[in-house]
Parts: sequence; C-alpha cells; structure tokens
Amino acid sequence: MRIDIISAVPDSLFSPLNTSILKRAQDKKKVEIIVHNLRDYTHDKHKQIDDKPFGGGPGMLLKPEPFFECIEKLISERRYDHIIFTSPKGVLYNQKMANKLSLADNLLMVCGHYKGIDDRVREKFCTDEISIGNYVLSGGELASLVIIDSIVRLIPGVLNDSESALNDSLMDGDFVEPPYYTRPAEIAGMKVPEVLLSGNEKKIKEWKEQQSKLLTEKWKKINNLE
Ligand code: ADE
Repeated sequence: MRIDIISAVPDSLFSPLNTSILKRAQDKKKVEIIVHNLRDYTHDKHKQIDDKPFGGGPGMLLKPEPFFECIEKLISERRYDHIIFTSPKGVLYNQKMANKLSLADNLLMVCGHYKGIDDRVREKFCTDEISIGNYVLSGGELASLVIIDSIVRLIPGVLNDSESALNDSLMDGDFVEPPYYTRPAEIAGMKVPEVLLSGNEKKIKEWKEQQSKLLTEKWKKINNLE
C-alpha cells in the first residue's frame, strides 16, 4: 500500500509515522508513506499558503492553488482508491471503514484546517470526508494519523502473531475482549482472578467468554448502542 499525505504542518506527522508499528510497517515495505509539504507547492517569495476568506469572517483559509497543484500531480502519477479529506463535518470513522480502507492500493489524505481550507479542494478531488469524532481538532493531521494507524495495522504481515491475537477487540464492531493480566499475581493488594492461575483450560476459556460478554454489554450501554 502507498499512502500520500498533504499537510500544511508536516512536522506534526513525522514522529508518529516514524515510531512503533507504523515505522516497522514501513521498514518491512508493507506500506510506503509519503508526506507532502503544502508550502512546496507555492511559487511566491513568502511561500504563502493562506489568505483571507471572501465574504469576511475571522481567521485565514488555506489557499486552493497549492492543493490543486499537488493533488493534480499525484493523480496524474497513479490511481487513488480514496482521496480522503479529514474534517469534523465528515462521516464518523469506525472499524468497518478501517477494514475497507486497508484493502486499498493507494490512499491520499488531505489534511484540512477547521474553517480553514477553500472548499473547492474538497469538492473537486475528495472522494471521502471523514471525521474521527464529534469534536474539533486544530487540524486534520491527528485525524489522518489515527486513520492511517488503524489501516496499516490491518495489512497482512504488519502485526506479529501475538500482537494480532491481543488486538481482536472491536474488529467486527461489536465485541470487546476480556481483561488481561501478567506477573506479578498480586500488586497493591490487587489479585489476578484465581481462575487464570488455575491451569484449568476449560474454566479459563469459560471465564474469558463470560467476561467478554459482560464487557461487551457494558460497552454497548455506555456508548448508547442498541
Ligand atoms: N479536523 C478537525 N477536527 C476533526 C475531526 N474531528 N475529525 C477529522 N478531522 C478533523
């Protein structure tokens, strides 16, 4: 998979992209992630990427021309399965969407700024407008990173066996895993449930299933699902 990201603040992306599982996925050549600095697509002395909004109002907007130039170059080079605009006005992101996006060959993420991008960029190029939650971030970069992380970990060969076994929660959107414990068996007076130390595999399996069921019910209740 190849993922391109267009951003006005590319430095905000590099640390998460070059850490942990996202780094390993790139090192293993499972994904290629390329960051494009919007400023590189300006042609004036001051490399200006924003301007005042027509019709007035507070703040500045990201200008359309650098986005147009960058996106037109990228789409002339390859076919993108999705061109995603991250915005609080978009469709709410979930695991099902992550599963679908993880099957793509090429993704392009366009990082917006709330109230801060000329809407013609979205209208002309973007196939998907995605929000990661009903709250407002300062920019689309963190949202893009959330989406990218959730996709890349699903690419076969990115997670090792133990990581993927431990991370099945919410894979199909309505199942929560039981709690897990490791050594020591007691800390601050808190003991690991006896059954997990019993060595009785049948009992342990039953306990995990029961916990999972209870936690799934609780999770649905606190999130107003069903
Ligand atoms: N940009 C600003 N807020 C956002 C959100 N909640 N989701 C996606 N992109 C955003």
